[in-house]
Amino acid sequence: MPRILLLYASTEGQTALIAERIAQVLRKRAHSVELLPADTDPARLDPAAYDGVMVGASIHYGHHPAYLHKLIRRLGGMIAARPNAFFSVSLSAGGPRPKPYAAQRYIDKFLRKTGWQPHLIASFAGAVKYSVYGPIKRRVMIVFVGLGGGETDTTRDYEYTDWAAVERFAETYAQRLAQA
Ligand SMILES: Cc1cc2nc3c(=O)[nH]c(=O)nc-3n(C[C@H](O)[C@H](O)[C@H](O)COP(=O)(O)O)c2cc1C
Repeated sequence: MPRILLLYASTEGQTALIAERIAQVLRKRAHSVELLPADTDPARLDPAAYDGVMVGASIHYGHHPAYLHKLIRRLGGMIAARPNAFFSVSLSAGGPRPKPYAAQRYIDKFLRKTGWQPHLIASFAGAVKYSVYGPIKRRVMIVFVGLGGGETDTTRDYEYTDWAAVERFAETYAQRLAQA
């Protein structure tokens, strides 16, 4: 049974949900998946104990989290030595007015800074979760989302993730593992 380490960096929970969906798809294919937050103490992480590694992270203020940069630089060699994949989650990747070039720029910057060249890369639309934001973040998001032509009614949340695309990505990764 292939063992996969799936690390996710999520602030408001959407990347965690996407990681869970990917884990479900892989588990259905009889893979064993260890799903862990990417801010787990790096001393407790041993990518060499797995057949494959996948990492997912969301964008805030134009960046993937700084702690993830450090983690990838630290574990990069071991990650690169096995089938690996990266997915990025943002509002630029989808939603009312997608900006795929911006989503791609975030990914390019992350890969440049970490030196990682994942075997598979995906960019997924995230969500606007007014219900989980504190007052300041809610105000920031009303402006940010409003400027982008999105929904500013804060009485509900908005999910833009294409779940079929997430499942296809998981299937493609499983095929890649099988070929390795
Ligand atoms: C404070 C804040 C800043 C954000 N900045 C960006 C940004 O610069 N570019 C972008 O495309 N999306 C941005 N987003 C959208 C997030 O990437 C999106 O909400 C994603 O679903 C968050 O994933 P998470 O719930 O896993 O943290 C921002 C969201 C928040 C709350």
